[in-house]
Amino acid sequence: MSASSIADHLKCPRTLPARLPNADFNPPYPSFSVRFPQNVSQLVMAIIGAQHKSASDAAVDTSRTTLTSFLTSSTCTTPPSFFEWASVTDNKGFYNITAFAYWPSKAAFDSWATDSGFKPWWDALPSDGTGTTTHGWFLEVFLPTTDRFETLFNTDSAREGSAHMCESMSDAVREHGYWGSMRDRIPLSQTDALSGVKAPAAEYRAPRDTDPCGRVRVPGRANLTVIRSGQDWRDTTPEERTLYLETMHPVLEKGMTFLRDHGEEVGCYSCRFMEIVDADSGKADGIDRTFGLAYFDEMASLEGWSKEHPTHLAIFGGFFQYAKKLENNVTLRVFHEVMVLEAEQQWFEYVGCHGGTGMLDTVMQAVVGRKVGRLDNFGDEHGHGEFDVELDDVGEGSELDVSDIVKRELWK
Ligand code: HEM
Repeated sequence: MSASSIADHLKCPRTLPARLPNADFNPPYPSFSVRFPQNVSQLVMAIIGAQHKSASDAAVDTSRTTLTSFLTSSTCTTPPSFFEWASVTDNKGFYNITAFAYWPSKAAFDSWATDSGFKPWWDALPSDGTGTTTHGWFLEVFLPTTDRFETLFNTDSAREGSAHMCESMSDAVREHGYWGSMRDRIPLSQTDALSGVKAPAAEYRAPRDTDPCGRVRVPGRANLTVIRSGQDWRDTTPEERTLYLETMHPVLEKGMTFLRDHGEEVGCYSCRFMEIVDADSGKADGIDRTFGLAYFDEMASLEGWSKEHPTHLAIFGGFFQYAKKLENNVTLRVFHEVMVLEAEQQWFEYVGCHGGTGMLDTVMQAVVGRKVGRLDNFGDEHGHGEFDVELDDVGEGSELDVSDIVKRELWK
């Protein structure tokens, strides 16, 4: 008898049907979900990044040292429960080095930000990415309540991301092994369709140049859906490692490149295929762990891509061939964490980054719309063609704050 992925205290009478094929459904292979302590009702995942022109930029190490000093500060009593480094060279050729840090509450995150000195440092960064900064910085913070969060691991022994804050891992869960199971694992889906706002194609078109953006805050979006889907082949045998690198890794890379460069076709705003970086050496070589980090306009879009798009179907189908070749003795570890966020549970802020960074792609419409005062009519004026936001138009280096669309502050 398998367990439910939804912890008992998050269960409620369903007003919406589950996608589970039938009440006796038994998944063909085991998978597990994280169980958080019951008093944890909201998690924080903060992505704090530095964007450099290249990986060989001498300032990369300085960026990491700066962020490490905040993340390990001895003056704060609520350091992250866990953090690690990951990097990606993006499609504009910039090298992004990023800390992924987790806290078990917003209060703990807020205290850390103040006590470690991170908040005053962040607020004082020169907005145009010049002065003391010769590169960009970005902050993407997600604050999902636990009813908007789910995880799935193919082993109950791995600890990744939020699992470092777990009380335990569940027994093998029943909500997996069918399309729609991700939704069934999100507790709120028992009563809520998790609908977001379908974004028109024009919203995805970032400026084509690589000028620094100034300081830009991007408003949150109702039910934005974030997935971090990871792969770890450290413990594979030489035979499995070769198979993974020759058959799975290339199709995975192809899928992530599609989402990065053609996300507008499937409702994906941003995708980064990232490598875990060793904390001491600052390098990803030989670490053998990657993950895709993608932001979708709503859960239905993520479901659609995974179920229907040839790029995920190639990954998915490839995996079953891979398992067959290994006679099901798979030691590759895969996991994902998915969150469906309220607008107030997202914080995107970019300082001196290029316009294609993360959710900056999307704000350029809001910026132009606000400038011309006709946000709703944006499409009419500009049609579906490419557009270039002239950063000079909105005042290069000026504080470009569109967060008044969502009136709130991250920091209390
Ligand atoms: C080597 C890498 C990957 C493998 C082997 C893989 C394989 C799979 C498998 C076997 C499932 C079904 C899981 C179950 O319910 O038991 C699945 C579901 C899914 N995958 Fe992947 N995948 C990979 C990477 C990714 C990435 C990078 C993403 C997105 C960024 C992704 C998105 C999804 C989603 C959203 C589902 C759930 C669909 C649903 O339940 O409706 N996958 N994948």
